[in-house]
Amino acid sequence: MLVVGNWKMNGDLARNEVLLADVCMGLPSDVDVAVCVPFPYLAQVAERSGEGALQLGAQDVSQFAEGAYTGEVSAAMLRDFRVRYAIVGHSERRALFGETDRVVAVKAKAALSAGLMPIVCIGETLEEREAGVVESVLARQLDAVLAEITPVEWGGVVLAYEPVWAIGTGRTATPEQVQEVLGFVRAWLRQKGVNATAVKILYGGSVKPESAVNLFGLPDCDGGLIGGASLDARSFLGICEAGLVASRLKLD
Ligand code: PGA
Repeated sequence: MLVVGNWKMNGDLARNEVLLADVCMGLPSDVDVAVCVPFPYLAQVAERSGEGALQLGAQDVSQFAEGAYTGEVSAAMLRDFRVRYAIVGHSERRALFGETDRVVAVKAKAALSAGLMPIVCIGETLEEREAGVVESVLARQLDAVLAEITPVEWGGVVLAYEPVWAIGTGRTATPEQVQEVLGFVRAWLRQKGVNATAVKILYGGSVKPESAVNLFGLPDCDGGLIGGASLDARSFLGICEAGLVASRLKLD
């Protein structure tokens, strides 16, 4: 199980300190937990997490390796701060910053090449769901990634299914809706010659401690990408605990 917090553009040094202290104190073992934080706070989290179990992630990464790209942060720079994960293609970046399927895929490749694990976000909008085109939208987003990343390299990729209509809305997708999509994604991977069981697939979108066990317990769900609830230590730890419960249930 992998539980990843996405702080988005929230926090300051003092608030982070409190949140990190509380989170680090309560982390369950046997669940991989990471937080993806704004770039300026990577060093703070790196220091705080020390030898501890909390892993470090960024919320974006440049598609370029080095050079005259003002404002960009490369995957190698992130590696310098012991960053392990980089979210790419979050729906907010796709919608607000014009990131295309191809840009997202090239960013995922850049992350992989530098030794980071990209967390590639995919998901449909409400209009797309209502139009019945969920699978074709996801296939299009995944095909773009497949054009950059070989089936063997997919072992280093994490996928996050985040229906856009469920992000930050309090409207969690039902376990049935989530499993239907995750099952489709797993089958798509298999069909493309990827070792599908080696790829972690997360669900994201208004996950709360109360909904987490049912979601994480789904056959094809390997954890969650958590936005709002990751800013509150109790909620985030509750969700991490749900990851532990779900993984034990799956082992039984
Ligand atoms: P949310 O955000 O949990 O606040 O819905 C999830 C995300 O955007 O990754």
